[in-house]
Amino acid sequence: MVYAATATAPVNIACIKYWGKRDTKLILPTNSSLSVTLDQDHLRSTTTSRADESFEKGDRLWLNGKEEVVKPDGRLGVCITELRNWRSIEEEKDSSLPKLSQWPLRIASYNNFPTAAGLASSASGLAALVASLARLYQLPQTPSQLSLIARQGSGSACRSLFGGFVAWREGVKSDGSDSLAEEVAPQSHWPDMHAVICVVSDAKKGTSSTSGMQRTVETSTLLQERLRIVPGRMEAISTAIKEKNFEEFASITMKDSNSFHSVCLDTSPPIFYLNDVSKSIIAVIEELNRSSGKIIAAYTFDAGPNAVIYALKENIPKVLGAINRFFPTSEEPRDPFGIAAQDLPEGFDLKVVREGGWEKGAVKTLIHTRVGDGPRTLSKEESLLNDKGEPKVL
Ligand code: DP6
Repeated sequence: MVYAATATAPVNIACIKYWGKRDTKLILPTNSSLSVTLDQDHLRSTTTSRADESFEKGDRLWLNGKEEVVKPDGRLGVCITELRNWRSIEEEKDSSLPKLSQWPLRIASYNNFPTAAGLASSASGLAALVASLARLYQLPQTPSQLSLIARQGSGSACRSLFGGFVAWREGVKSDGSDSLAEEVAPQSHWPDMHAVICVVSDAKKGTSSTSGMQRTVETSTLLQERLRIVPGRMEAISTAIKEKNFEEFASITMKDSNSFHSVCLDTSPPIFYLNDVSKSIIAVIEELNRSSGKIIAAYTFDAGPNAVIYALKENIPKVLGAINRFFPTSEEPRDPFGIAAQDLPEGFDLKVVREGGWEKGAVKTLIHTRVGDGPRTLSKEESLLNDKGEPKVL
């Protein structure tokens, strides 16, 4: 009998950003956050976990084919230990269950998007790990309970255990038992929510979110102001989502991205995640909204220069038109939804972008996707491990 499970998990992009920890070991945030889960048909992490009595002692894990050391007190090790403990509780309750919790694990994980694209892979990766182990161990815990474990792997990962629109409640308890993710609305509530990711070229290695946010907590006074404002924004954006009020959703999303990058600038030494291309994308989207007479698109940026632009499906032609016009990509864009770009609105002020626009490749590629579902379980045939428990060559 082979005990194995394969699961996929999505990427999520926050509209209200998580930036700052009040507990760095348990990964407890200084504020609640809210994100949109993106479609796994386009971006996903897949993980296979297998437990076997006959494996040589010790857990082993491969990420995109490369073996990673699993330190017992490291983030991955903590997630594995916690899920094992939950399994052993089930084994104690029911002695007929195989003692999977005592057997060594082999885990292989694979992202279908290049890490070099600078997209956060830790959130989907950790969520896929938790989802596949929960499946392997047949755990009875809910996605919110599982999010408590994923959170300890990487804060933003807890939000990837749900589809749709997801809140991570900061919680008040010091043991972190109430710092978990919850669904605000499912994917089916607002399926027309689309996203265009502009992958921006950037040669330099940026500051990691983990160390960047810690520096902000230690040195930024502006963070205190941000922490006063976020609770109101969480309320307002949840209402906007429930009422499908795009203008309100977009306005809060842009404000919160700008607030997050402001506290980065207020950190010492300052952290700059946006580059000139990112800033130019902001100018284009602001002008697209102004010349359209209403807010039709929202930009948001994480800990890097890539832009994520949220827009309703009906307005994607305008977004693609504006981006293609000023930021020609190196590859000819092929839209997965077959949506064609549209001309700029009349009255669009071309002067918001430097003359001649940007050189080809300043934005490397566009990834057009939409709101998606939560983790999925795959069949045996889709396992990433071979019969011996080693990663398959993909
Ligand atoms: C800017 O979740 O990567 O993307 O908890 O230290 O692993 P750790 O940090 P991480 O931080 C994500 C920061 C962000 C905002 C967000 O996703 O909410």
